Amino acid sequence: MSSLTVHAGGLDLQNPVLLAAGILGTTGASLRRAALAGAGGVVTKSLGSVPREGHHGPTVVAVECGLLNAMGLPNPSYRNFQEEIEIARKGGRPVIASIFGSSAREFSQIARGLKADAFELNLSCPHAEKYGSELGRYPEMVESVTGAVKAAADVPVWVKLTPNTADILELGLAAQRGGADAVVAINTLKAMAIDIETGYPILGNRFGGLSGRAIKPVAVRCVYDLAAGLDIPVIGVGGITSWEDTVEMILAGASAVQVGTALQRGYGIFEEITVGLARYLERKSLTLEELRGLAGRRS
Ligand code: FUM
Repeated sequence: MSSLTVHAGGLDLQNPVLLAAGILGTTGASLRRAALAGAGGVVTKSLGSVPREGHHGPTVVAVECGLLNAMGLPNPSYRNFQEEIEIARKGGRPVIASIFGSSAREFSQIARGLKADAFELNLSCPHAEKYGSELGRYPEMVESVTGAVKAAADVPVWVKLTPNTADILELGLAAQRGGADAVVAINTLKAMAIDIETGYPILGNRFGGLSGRAIKPVAVRCVYDLAAGLDIPVIGVGGITSWEDTVEMILAGASAVQVGTALQRGYGIFEEITVGLARYLERKSLTLEELRGLAGRRS
C-alpha cells in the first residue's frame, strides 16, 4: 500500500483525510471515534469564550445536493471543553480546536486558555453576527487575528477562509502574512431556502451556509487559486464525499482534506477514502507529494 503519511500545516498526519469542524466535534467521544475509524486528524466544533445556545430552529435543512445550516455557533465555551479534547486525544490522532471570537483579543484569550494540537481559526462562518466571515472577509482582520493567535499559541495555527468573497487569495495572503501554518478552504456558502406553502424562509435564522456536493467545484477552484498563490499548505474542504473527490482536491493543490457533510454516511467514510486514495496512488505510481498540485503543473 502507498504511504499516506504527510506533514501538513505543522502536524504529522498518518493520512491526509481529517474530520471537518462542526460535524461530530461536539463531544470527545465522537471525535475519538472518528480518529479510531481512520481519520488522520479531527477538528472540534467551533468554541467561543462563553457558552452559546445558537440560533432558533430549524437550524439544518436538507436541500438539493447538500445541507443548509444556521446553527449559530452553539458551544459550551472553551473553558468547558478541555476534558473533551483529552478524551478525543485517546484516538491517537491530532486534535485541532476550531475557535471563534469577535476580535483578535478574544481569539488569543481562547488560544492561551485551551490546549490542543493545533488551532483552526473560524473566520468564515457565514451566519453569526459579529463572528466568522463578519471579520474574515476583511484581509486586515484576518492578518491581525492570525498574528495575535500566533503570538499566544505554541501550536500550529490554521485559518479557515470564507468563499463568500470576490478574491479568496487576498484572504489567504493575509493569513500567510499573519503567520498562519496553513489555510483551510472553504467554509460554507451563504445561502437560503424558502417554504413555498407558507412563504417563510425555512431556517430559523432565515439564511445559513450551504455544504455538501453542491459546493465541491467552488472548493476545488478556491484550493487551486490558494495553492498557486501561497507558500503555506492548503487544507481542502467542501463537498468531499469519496476518494475520487479527495484525489481531485489534492490535484488542485491540497496537502490534506477535511470531510464534513459526507459523515451522514457514517464513520466508515474515512477508511473508504484512504483505501481508495492509496490504491489510486499505487495504480498511477505516484506519491502523495507528486500528486499534490499536479493540475497546476499541467501545460
Ligand atoms: O453555526 C455553526 O456552528 C457553524 C459554523 C460555521 O459555519 O463555521
